[in-house]
Formats: sequence, structure tokens, C-alpha cells
Amino acid sequence: MERPELLGTQLFDLSGRVAIITGAGRGLGRTMALSLAAAGADLVLTARTASEIGALAEEVRELGRRAVAVTADVTSEADANRVAAEALAQLGRLDILVNNAGINIRKPVLELTEAEYRQVLETNLIGCFHFARAAGRHFVAQGCGKLINISSIMGQVALASQGAYASSKGGIEQLTKVLALEWASANVQVNAIAPTYFETPLTRPLFDDPERNAFITGRTPMGRWGQPHELAGAVIFLASAASDYITGHTLTVDGGWTAW
Ligand SMILES: NC(=O)c1ccc[n+]([C@@H]2O[C@H](COP(=O)([O-])OP(=O)(O)OC[C@H]3O[C@@H](n4cnc5c(N)ncnc54)[C@H](OP(=O)(O)O)[C@@H]3O)[C@@H](O)[C@H]2O)c1
Repeated sequence: MERPELLGTQLFDLSGRVAIITGAGRGLGRTMALSLAAAGADLVLTARTASEIGALAEEVRELGRRAVAVTADVTSEADANRVAAEALAQLGRLDILVNNAGINIRKPVLELTEAEYRQVLETNLIGCFHFARAAGRHFVAQGCGKLINISSIMGQVALASQGAYASSKGGIEQLTKVLALEWASANVQVNAIAPTYFETPLTRPLFDDPERNAFITGRTPMGRWGQPHELAGAVIFLASAASDYITGHTLTVDGGWTAW
């Protein structure tokens, strides 16, 4: 081991690192932001709703970390570039990007409009592309960086009515592999996390529907939905020195869904 001093919890220490989290205002993004802050990172929180990211920034500062809230729409490349510039201007460095912002429009493909299909791809996939490039230019130039794309089990397996969403998440997993190859020699690690169903505002309609809820619970080997804090280990691992030789990988956090 080249750095034997990095043992135990030190491997996962993010002190002094700066992370951008997209879609940080609620749901999984909010919880992952708090997890990264708990591991020591300073944060740039971004989403379209200023009140949500502003309140989270306050909460993060109360934990003793620096945090700035920057409103942005991931479908805009100019917004992505502005957020990366704000990270450097306000917090002085940029080490980690969590590409988390996402939406879903659940409809059979024959009922889905082209505009709806484009909206999901533009938010979930092209949004990742914009932020990956905005942060990635800086990561490559500095010779290190951690990019974590939030996919879904729908990037690997399918269900009816997930035509737009599954297309976008499959794209994210392939983009993850390509960027891993393109930036490997620059010591930038690019990985993805593929969660199963977690209780958040995005999945509230499914959670509240007794039939859908029972299907999801019954289909999950562990027999329950994920709780947002159960992504903490995956995101801290992929953001930290503990994953320095892992790139191009999608880590499923799915209670066993994709094991059968
Ligand atoms: N919950 C699950 O079960 C689950 C499972 C697998 C994967 N995921 C993935 O995890 C990620 C987060 O999901 P979630 O359940 O936490 O969703 P959520 O509760 O609906 O939160 C989504 C976040 O993304 C932001 N966002 C949406 N569109 C945006 C845009 N155009 N520009 C900037 N920000 C935007 C939202 O903020 P604004 O509306 O304020 O912009 C919000 O902060 C998504 O990529 C989702 O596909 C979730």
C-alpha cells in the first residue's frame, strides 16, 4: 500500500474537500449532501428551488462545514458552468461532483409524448453531461477528482411505464464508463450509484399506492424500501480515497433487487 497511513476511517475522511451536489434540495440529494458534510466535505448545493437549498445550506453550516446554495437548472450548460465557477470562487476548490438531479414521467411508451420523453432525457442524462463537463474540465486539469452519477436499478433492469426513465438511466451508466476511460489517465474516478426504490418525494405516489407499494416490497429480497440514509456508505466511499482504484463501476444499492 502506497499510503499505509490512510487506514480505517481516515480512508473515508473528506475534510477539506469541496463537493457539488445537484438536486440537493430534497430526497436523496439532500440526504447525500448531509452525509458528505458529516464526512467532512464543504458543499455547493444546487437545484431550481432556492428556498430548499438555502435551508439545507444553513443546516450544513450548523454542522460546522462551509456551504453555498446556487440555483441552477441542470438542462442548461451555462448554469452548470456557473455552478462550477461559483464553487471555485466561493470555496476555493472543487473535488467531487454528485450528479443527482432527476425526474420521472411514468407512462406506457404509446402514451408518452415526445416532449415528455425529451424532458426526462434532458434532465436526467443531458443534465449529467452538462455538469460532468463543467466539473470534469477542472478535475482533469488538476489531476484528480471524483464524479458520482446517480443512476437507478432501471439503468440495468426494466419495468413497464419506465420508457423515458430507464432510457435515461441506461445512458447514464454508459456515459459513466466512457468518462471513466477518457479521464482515467488524469486520475479522475467516474462511478455511478444505482439505487432501488427509496422513500422520497419522487416515489411518494408509488409509496402511497397500496398495490404498487406491495409489488415493490414483495419484489425486493430484503422485503422493504430503502431509506435515504442507506446511500451514505456508497456516496462517501465513491467520493473518498477508499475508492481511488475504482472507476467505471455502477454500485447497486438495492436490497438485492438485481440479484435475481
Ligand atoms: N427515490 C428513488 O427511489 C430513486 C431510485 C433510484 C434512483 N433515484 C434517483 O435519485 C435522484 C434523486 O431522486 P429523488 O427521489 O431524491 O428525487 P426528488 O425527491 O424528486 O428530488 C429531485 C431533486 O432534483 C432536482 N431537480 C429536478 N429537476 C431539476 C432540474 N431541471 N434542474 C435542477 N435540479 C432539478 C429537484 O429540485 P428542483 O425541483 O428544485 O429543481 C430536487 O432537488 C434522481 O436522479 C433519481 O432518478 C431515485
